[in-house]
Amino acid sequence: MYNDYMDESLLQLNEKDELCHLLTLKNLDKTAIEKILDQAQIYTASKIISDEERGFFQNLTIANLFFEPSTRTRVSFEIAARYLGCNVINIDIENSSEKKGESLIDTAKTIQSLGANVLIVRHGEQDTLKLIANEIGEHCIVINAGEANISHPTQGLLDLLTIRQEKKSFENLIVTIIGDLSHSRVAQSTAQGLTTMGVREIRLVSPEQFSLDENISHVCRSLSNVDEGIKNADVVMALRIQHERINATGEEYTTQNYFEEFGLTHNRMKLASPDAIIMHPGPMNRNVEIESSLANSPKSVIQRQVANGVAVRIAVIDQLLKSRLK
Ligand code: CP
Repeated sequence: MYNDYMDESLLQLNEKDELCHLLTLKNLDKTAIEKILDQAQIYTASKIISDEERGFFQNLTIANLFFEPSTRTRVSFEIAARYLGCNVINIDIENSSEKKGESLIDTAKTIQSLGANVLIVRHGEQDTLKLIANEIGEHCIVINAGEANISHPTQGLLDLLTIRQEKKSFENLIVTIIGDLSHSRVAQSTAQGLTTMGVREIRLVSPEQFSLDENISHVCRSLSNVDEGIKNADVVMALRIQHERINATGEEYTTQNYFEEFGLTHNRMKLASPDAIIMHPGPMNRNVEIESSLANSPKSVIQRQVANGVAVRIAVIDQLLKSRLK
């Protein structure tokens, strides 16, 4: 719809090639990713912030505009912004003037004019982030909190941080992502980030109905056999079946046999590398895409993914505001 605008991977860089918005992990270089992961890692260890830092952030305002439901992403952006000392406003879209016909861009412009320095946006329609960054990106920072089935860059970054904490190096890793790939913005961003960080192989396992149309990168391999996909994997990530997106396109899918055919189970994990970790971006449907007790097992880093979401979002907000305002 808004394809005539500049590509988001270029739009998010300033004239010095520094990150000025966060719209996508596509084409974001390794140095920029590592800078965010390194800073986030520091925040996981220490939650102390100096008075000088607090002074810089105290009059800055972050606005959360979530046009789709969220628990983890919205709350962690709010905690991250408050940790830095920013003001936070959460726009209640259901009771906003959007319901009186105000357009997305007029809503975004209004929030920016009211004083927001950063707009954190989740939207179900592709290219909306690009539209906002093109229209008002000069006046405020735009951060993608989940765009259609296309991208979720901060989720990709927190997945990378979690893997790096467990595996130390990305080289030689086999990462397997199982589930509803075609409706998953997480799969795309995480696979883009993993490719940039130099993993050996990304196996994308799904029912045929949910395979990806486009190849994300040269290290990605599409499979429909879950056992083959899990064999010797170092990281195994399960994805939710996104009924809301499936229904919206008029498709149908029943999860009746899904657990048997694609579910991540203790038994199946015996095929993976002995020290393999289990991930899930959430929200989980226990005993549909993942055996409930496996999600709670020592191999699972799912709750750490959630906690790392705060650290990554602190680093992202910090870096973008400092590069824009200092
Ligand atoms: N992973 C994720 O985006 O979760 P929420 O939808 O709860 O934000």
